Amino acid sequence: MNESNEYGMAEAKASAISLGPIGVFDSGYGGLTILRELRKTLPEYDYLYLGDNARAPYGSRSFEVIYRYTLEAVRELFARGCPLVILACNTASAKALRSIQQNDLPSIDPTRRVLGVIRPTVEILDKVSKTGHIGVLGTPGTVASESYVIEVKKLFPDMEVSQQACPLWVPIVENSEYDGDGADYFVKKYIDALMAKDPRIDTFVLGCTHYPLLADKIRRFAPQGIRILEQGQLVAESLKDYLRRHPEMEARLVRNGRVEFLTSENPDKFDPLASLFTHHSVKSSRCAFD
Ligand code: DGL
Repeated sequence: MNESNEYGMAEAKASAISLGPIGVFDSGYGGLTILRELRKTLPEYDYLYLGDNARAPYGSRSFEVIYRYTLEAVRELFARGCPLVILACNTASAKALRSIQQNDLPSIDPTRRVLGVIRPTVEILDKVSKTGHIGVLGTPGTVASESYVIEVKKLFPDMEVSQQACPLWVPIVENSEYDGDGADYFVKKYIDALMAKDPRIDTFVLGCTHYPLLADKIRRFAPQGIRILEQGQLVAESLKDYLRRHPEMEARLVRNGRVEFLTSENPDKFDPLASLFTHHSVKSSRCAFD
């Protein structure tokens, strides 16, 4: 191959790589708690949020359905130009991330990346727990996947992990009942059930991105001194580190500090509650899945 051909090919390759926003996906509103922290820590980037509110909650759905819905969302965010997608949903991270990374990405586009929220949460557990006894609160899907148990055992084999599925917490949040008195019963119920499994637990992992909205109540009903880990800041710090280690990905991100929102539900329904999560006014567009 002569020099001019090589140059021409390199130029064609470079022009094929266009810049795009960071995609942030959740089944509904929960991922907004992650987006909020991403924007605080990495304000220079553009973000495209997608909430599959019309099909939320995912937590009680089967592996096949969660995987199919998550893959559809990832494809949608790729089609809209995102070189990198964060699954800001534990259920999707637990049930779909590995399959998408290993089986789908190589054929869709091996230069793009999909990252989850479980690993960044587990990585810091040795710095926060003194007893090494961890309690994970999550959706039935996340708990059944055992993803937290598997990840913790990989990094910290001596830690003890107990899990508690909280099937009603996401519906409580999605229906704006998170600060209502009615929520108290179910918050206390699942915390008591978790502590009954292992009274030595000193750290709760809020293993669902909806749960920060219930954090005040969780704090109220948790035994004194329990450390409560929310994921937003952990995921943001982990992404910052990832982009530092992957300048080729960082160079593909738009840096205008803008954010756009997509929902599979009616935007009129999405926007008011989304604003409560983001602490800013939200104006979303409809994104329909076939
Ligand atoms: N925010 C999702 C998670 O982190 C909620 C899952 C659901 O839709 O049930 O697991």
